[in-house]
Amino acid sequence: MKPLTGAILGVAAAILVGCATLSDAELAKQATEVLRASFKERGQAKLDRLNQDSPQAQCSIDDGKPLSKEALAAIEKSQFELIKYPTDGKLLGDWREGEKIAQTGVGKQFSDNPANPSGGNCYACHQISPREISYGTIGPTLLGFGKLRGNSEAIQKYTYGKVYNPQAYSACSNMPRFGHNGILTEKQLKDVTALLLDPASPVNQ
Ligand code: HEC
Repeated sequence: MKPLTGAILGVAAAILVGCATLSDAELAKQATEVLRASFKERGQAKLDRLNQDSPQAQCSIDDGKPLSKEALAAIEKSQFELIKYPTDGKLLGDWREGEKIAQTGVGKQFSDNPANPSGGNCYACHQISPREISYGTIGPTLLGFGKLRGNSEAIQKYTYGKVYNPQAYSACSNMPRFGHNGILTEKQLKDVTALLLDPASPVNQ
């Protein structure tokens, strides 16, 4: 064996042995430290964004076992209790405004002015209006959402609450918590709810 090859193998073996002796918790701690060290605070983008709350921390455990049914139900219950519904009781706003919000991806980045409203960037993950042909598929299609589900008070409440805090209905959802994290305002949440449920919205034609 050439000395260089031997040295490389030796280092690789040392890394493997190192990994083998670290517990999952220690590895997770080291990974977080590397992540923290590679980010810098700029503008409104602060390092506290790397702090996970309890549901995020629980959903990030990767020990090969899914969370128990009880743990998932407890997360959903705790998140549901955090949803704030509009005090005027109205859950549907203007679907035209909702479409603009769904189309807009600005907000919360270091280069954005925090005084300006953020967008929902919904099309990054969902098909919504048939008029928009470019969309992501991380989330399910929402085309015909109101046509399929109806426009009852219960459905309005579900839709508003789902966008406010998706983890209230799906504990480890990848969808951002738009209301809970103050990304969208109450008015904007009503507008995107209308985009999905208003019978006049192109989504439901
Ligand atoms: C980063 C990707 C992502 C973004 C951005 C996103 N979503 Fe989602 N959404 C998901 C995923 C994944 C699901 C499926 C898992 C779940 O139910 O939480 C979902 C589920 C939903 C559902 C439930 C669908 C059903 O059949 O009940 C609704 C409603 C929804 N999203 C609306 C929105 C709206 C409105 C926006 C923009 C304000 C948005 N989403 C932005 C990823 C995303």
